[in-house]
Amino acid sequence: MEKVCDAAEVPPGAMRGFMVQGRKILLANVAGQFYAMDAVCSHMQGDLSRGKLQGTIVTCPVHGSQYDVTNGKVFRNVSWAVKTFTRKSATDLATFRTEVKEGAVWVGV
Ligand code: FES
Repeated sequence: MEKVCDAAEVPPGAMRGFMVQGRKILLANVAGQFYAMDAVCSHMQGDLSRGKLQGTIVTCPVHGSQYDVTNGKVFRNVSWAVKTFTRKSATDLATFRTEVKEGAVWVGV
């Protein structure tokens, strides 16, 4: 596990990107519970930390695919038009364990 930030830096409803052991991780706070998953969109490498978090769903800022931060699964894939044009769909992302200790968030990669 690696310490990534103070818990107060990512308040409820917010998310941020961090590098953890060379991997770009998205840390999201959903109603006080922290979730971590890959921050790089599986479709065409959009930076999910620049997307939008609504509840447990993060939307990629590039083509709008959506993932559930609690399990890394694709919630809504790219549109048919985007899929046809790019010849690629989004696929599920890896998630990582989180722990809060003494006011800091730790992530296991
Ligand atoms: S790069 Fe994320 S949906 Fe295309």
